[in-house]
Amino acid sequence: MTKILGVVSGKGGVGKTTTAINLGTAFSAMGRDVIVLDANLTTPNVSVHLGAPIVPVTLNDALRGNKHITEAIYQHPSGIKIIPSSISVEELKFLNADKLASTLVDLIGKTEYIIMDASAGLSEDTLAVMKAADEVIVVTNPELPAVTDALKTIKIAERMGTKVLGVVVNKYRNDEFELDIRTIETILEYPVLGIVPEDKAARSALALKMPLVYAHRNSPAARGFRQVAARLLGERYEEMEERREEESLLNYVLRRLGLRK
Ligand SMILES: Nc1ncnc2c1ncn2[C@@H]1O[C@H](COP(=O)(O)OP(=O)(O)OP(=O)(O)O)[C@@H](O)[C@H]1O
Ligand SMILES: [Mg+2]
Repeated sequence: MTKILGVVSGKGGVGKTTTAINLGTAFSAMGRDVIVLDANLTTPNVSVHLGAPIVPVTLNDALRGNKHITEAIYQHPSGIKIIPSSISVEELKFLNADKLASTLVDLIGKTEYIIMDASAGLSEDTLAVMKAADEVIVVTNPELPAVTDALKTIKIAERMGTKVLGVVVNKYRNDEFELDIRTIETILEYPVLGIVPEDKAARSALALKMPLVYAHRNSPAARGFRQVAARLLGERYEEMEERREEESLLNYVLRRLGLRK
């Protein structure tokens, strides 16, 4: 069965696209079949973050009914599968966000997880993500404006009957100006699934056009995203990290022996 997850926030720039891409990459590294879908129809970000070239078929073609959604699946060099949206300004005339849920039905059974990146705010395409998702993950920053917008988003998701899994606190600095994690949980009334520190690895990954958990696997932010992924998949983070270290040691040995590139 396919589980459809939406990554939403309310406030812009808090790290939804970074979260969607890196959870997708972490899921994939943990052996799950996953597609990261750019459901930010107004300001698509996934292909911009990943430097995907202009592709012949996008989610927009599938929403318009011109192509089957499976024709819009691409493999990024990092190994993750993505379904990009068109970045063309022309496409804004026909969003077809109301077709998202029915279009995704064609992917059911073809992958284990679909992780949808949503746009900021509570526009038509964000609402379509919440409608199409089985469950949503709310990304916020430890600041009142971001948490206030997250609360509004949570209330809308609840009203729509979409399950809220919890909150990812991104760009955490652990300084005296931030809201602490307990306060965020009290305001939002949902558990914090993980804390991802403010980390220059995010900007570097953007420049490299790679997911940070792939390009900077040992960075604090990568650990944060893997921790969230482990929690979502019901795995023990410590065991997963041990396995990861064993695998990278094995890869190192095999490379030294000239048995792996
Ligand atoms: N943990 C982090 N540490 C430092 N920078 C980060 C972190 N997470 C994201 N960023 C940076 O913050 C910026 C916004 O991130 P991102 O694009 O993921 O946000 P968004 O919520 O998807 O934005 P939008 O609302 O515009 O879609 C990017 O430049 C990204 O590299
Ligand atoms: Mg984004």
